[in-house]
Amino acid sequence: MLRRLHSEQPDSFAFTPANQAWAEAQMTKYPEGRQASAVIPLLWRAQEQEGWLTKPAIETVADMLGMAYIRVLEVVSFYFMFQMQPTGSVANIQICGTTTCMICGAEDLIAVCKEKIAEKPHTLSADGKFTWEEVECLGACTNAPMAQIGKDYYEDLTAKGFAQMIDDLAAGKVPVPGPQNGRYAAEPKLGLTTLTDYESGKTQYNASVQRAVDLCETVKRIQGDEVPLLTPWVGKDGVVAGRAAADPAPKAPETPKPAVKQAAEAKKAAAKKPAAKAEAPVAEEKEPEVLKAARGGKADDLKLLKGVGPKLEETLNELGFFHFDQVAAWGEAEVAWVDARLKFKGRIERDGWIEQAKQLASGEETEFAKKAKEDGRYDDE
Ligand code: FES
Repeated sequence: MLRRLHSEQPDSFAFTPANQAWAEAQMTKYPEGRQASAVIPLLWRAQEQEGWLTKPAIETVADMLGMAYIRVLEVVSFYFMFQMQPTGSVANIQICGTTTCMICGAEDLIAVCKEKIAEKPHTLSADGKFTWEEVECLGACTNAPMAQIGKDYYEDLTAKGFAQMIDDLAAGKVPVPGPQNGRYAAEPKLGLTTLTDYESGKTQYNASVQRAVDLCETVKRIQGDEVPLLTPWVGKDGVVAGRAAADPAPKAPETPKPAVKQAAEAKKAAAKKPAAKAEAPVAEEKEPEVLKAARGGKADDLKLLKGVGPKLEETLNELGFFHFDQVAAWGEAEVAWVDARLKFKGRIERDGWIEQAKQLASGEETEFAKKAKEDGRYDDE
């Protein structure tokens, strides 16, 4: 498969504040001058946030690590775990097509993908919610056939059950990961033959499955604030273990709490969580007020909103948005409506379009708009 930058790219990328803090903390793990070692974790987090690796994301990571853009692109294009094209807004489904899974029915699962998602892999489904691909052995051969959906494995699949699973995901539910035929793990299909006393004491889910169900983490886009930032290798004084205080190593973004305290807090927070829920919150959509044309034939320069470039402005105009006050009036349901019609999801909230639009609509200047005008980048005169 040809791995190159996708032909359509967003205008910008920025880590969420929590992901930025996480990324900067990862960089402190390495000696000064060796921050490039953090390239894979940072790229992975960027992909967890956006669903795929865009050119601006690759460049942002390269800038953070002081690497040439081409070196980071080489890493991205080498590892197939990095997605170089847009993936489904809900999930990219990876079907294992290697020997055991193939013998046990992987071809039937691929047929389901072709029918429900798209004829060709790496192609967005009509509703933009899914993409699929065939991958090599994922190491769960005992539970073949299987698929990885988001972060989790779904095993012992049948075509019928798998098709239902895709419908459930499309409806905002997150099916419980793991074997789908009643097995707990990789024990014999007819039940345990050894360690049988384990049977009565076993929990319904293992810890990672429980977490996937609690947080809907399986297919969640990671914002970084899902769990506390843990940087136990950085002391209370902000000095990385094994380094002298004078060592100008990059610092963690916040003074970390002692690991024990963090663990206790995390446990307490987990205890407060409601019982397992399989429903992911899905914001209801409501069509905002749209216009056929700009009022008085003069549209606002929507590119003055951070995160909106020429292509996105064109899309917004096509949808019927020409003025800052229109964007400023969007509520949660209207944001969901617009977001569902944009190629790159989640930008409205992440880039704070509404707050920016409110300022600009009231005649105030935003930092970004001021700079853009100074640079003459988005001068629409
Ligand atoms: S062959 Fe599919 S997981 Fe190994």
